[in-house]
Amino acid sequence: MNQIVEKVLFSEKVAKFVVDAPRIAKSRKPGHFVILRVDEKGERIPLTIAGADPVKGTIVLVVQKMGVSSAKLFELEVGDYILDLVGPLGKATHIHQAGTVLACGGGVGVAPMLPIVEGFKKAGNRVISIIAARNKDLIILEDEIRKWSDETIVMTDDGSYGTKGLVTAGAEMIIQREKVNECIAIGPAVMMKFTSLLTKKYEIPTQASLNAIMVDGTGMCGACRVSVGGNTYFTCIDGPEFDAHQIDFDELIMRLGGYSNEEKLAYERYV
Ligand code: FES
Repeated sequence: MNQIVEKVLFSEKVAKFVVDAPRIAKSRKPGHFVILRVDEKGERIPLTIAGADPVKGTIVLVVQKMGVSSAKLFELEVGDYILDLVGPLGKATHIHQAGTVLACGGGVGVAPMLPIVEGFKKAGNRVISIIAARNKDLIILEDEIRKWSDETIVMTDDGSYGTKGLVTAGAEMIIQREKVNECIAIGPAVMMKFTSLLTKKYEIPTQASLNAIMVDGTGMCGACRVSVGGNTYFTCIDGPEFDAHQIDFDELIMRLGGYSNEEKLAYERYV
């Protein structure tokens, strides 16, 4: 069992949890994720690690209340325990010297983007970050992203904060202004799809971190399968990052919505 040592509400539906997990804190790298269960009947929730303190033995997870399991997790408080938490899982981000890196994060995708931005900055790259959300309340970790970025652009769909518009508008502005050597996209699948289409047009190598549905997280159940370049991969062991220009985003979006009716019903019963 892993104890929650800190909880910070970013908004009504998004919270940061600092969780006691010493071994994971020591070995995790940018891009790694964990799978947790809140209780014995709980779904297994994959969450990318947003940060870690190896000295204190803690990791940072950012949770958005979306369905029953995430609502149960969201309701936990400091001192409460998560039933089980396994990780670090997945392949770490390939951090290297690329030149200028454009990091595009949407919604809670900004949380897993943070350690990647930090990693690329520490590796000597020029890092430009775009953080985007539907509105001001959903913009998270702005100060932390600014700390590790040479330039940070905030975008909101409704214009309630930063520049009004989608992440792709900010990205295209940067791409037209200066040479971008590599792009990272993390956020809702539809946002990553359109970021990928944009960077494909400009032939900028792009990695997207996929949020596929997962069960075991060890490559056995097939729940997280995705098509990349015409081949089938498992997000949990082959990803979560893939060459965005090769990903079949339409299939991913369809699979992500596969249980939406059941999820909606279960949530209505829960509340
Ligand atoms: Fe089961 Fe990836 S979660 S194969």
